[in-house]
Amino acid sequence: MTAPLVTRVSRADAAAVGDAVHWLRAGGLVAFPTETVYGLGADATNAHAVARLYDAKGRPAFNPLISHVTGVAAAQKLARFDGNAAKLAEAFWPGPLTLVLPKADGCPVAELATSGLDSIAVRVPHHDVAQKILAAFGRPVVAPSANRSGHVSPTTAGHVLADLRGRIELIVDGGASPVGVESTVVACLGPPMLLRPGGLPREDIERVLGFALASAPPQAASDDAPLAPGMLTSHYAPRTLLRLDANAVTAGEALLAFGPSRIEGAENAKATLNLSQSGDLIEAAANLFSHLRTLDGAGAPMIAVMPIPHDGLGEAINDRLKRAAAPR
Ligand code: TXA
Ligand code: MG
Repeated sequence: MTAPLVTRVSRADAAAVGDAVHWLRAGGLVAFPTETVYGLGADATNAHAVARLYDAKGRPAFNPLISHVTGVAAAQKLARFDGNAAKLAEAFWPGPLTLVLPKADGCPVAELATSGLDSIAVRVPHHDVAQKILAAFGRPVVAPSANRSGHVSPTTAGHVLADLRGRIELIVDGGASPVGVESTVVACLGPPMLLRPGGLPREDIERVLGFALASAPPQAASDDAPLAPGMLTSHYAPRTLLRLDANAVTAGEALLAFGPSRIEGAENAKATLNLSQSGDLIEAAANLFSHLRTLDGAGAPMIAVMPIPHDGLGEAINDRLKRAAAPR
């Protein structure tokens, strides 16, 4: 649990945009208006900032986030566009459409933000304040709706304050969000598929494509229910088996450690990485996916994972580890 912060609310003028950029650069959390709803922004390239964002929202799992950018050119650094995706971006950006696309090579967005998927959600908001912050910051910003997990999405700065006071650094107040519902999410990973209905009607999208969108099974992209693994694109799962809550290491195993203590046999581990030497769950979340990948490459028959507490982000970390350890 993090100590309460002072949450500032600033009218959306040039100084507020400057403050927003300051906090984003420092790994802070900044709520800002978009045309759909208020977003809770963090530097998409900073895993620690993204971990803090999940903590502030109180999400029980690491659902993948949308990376917000100024336009198509910036989006192309993050994702690969096929013909359909290019058509939709051309027709509807900036605007309330999020595209889920294959990640580009060298995509700088933190693994935690895409929860280890090989796809990425990208959106170009049609809102002057959001655009100014993104342009001045110059990097992608992940922004889920700026509410506590399970609450309704905020369309005013007051809604954001009621939910997140003391948990984020800044709220930029740009008045009410005109659309009032989240963006429509369409995956272009194969035949375009509607993952979440939203501010842009399906008919408008189908008119531009010239054919009907495939429909995802219900709840495919809901906020609090993670995507069914393997439905659209596979969730990252290590090839190496995982053994959770390990209190000893068998020679030759890789060790995913947590906290300052050493467990029996640790010196015989084939490779060891610590999620957080000091036992900080935010740091642990920031390291989770990259450490799993690295240990997966160590050539060990098994990755032993030390127990992780279940409070705060520990719930999401344990959820993810349980999925990674599930029999396949
Ligand atoms: O209007 C909006 O989209 C707002 C504003 C702030 O931009 N943001 C928003 O973010 O609604 P969030 O995190 O509440 O919703 C993101 C949605 C979720 O349904 C998530 O499952 C889906 O996008 N999503 C993100 N990445 C995905 C991926 N790689 N594959 C499939 N779905 C993805
Ligand atoms: Mg939401």
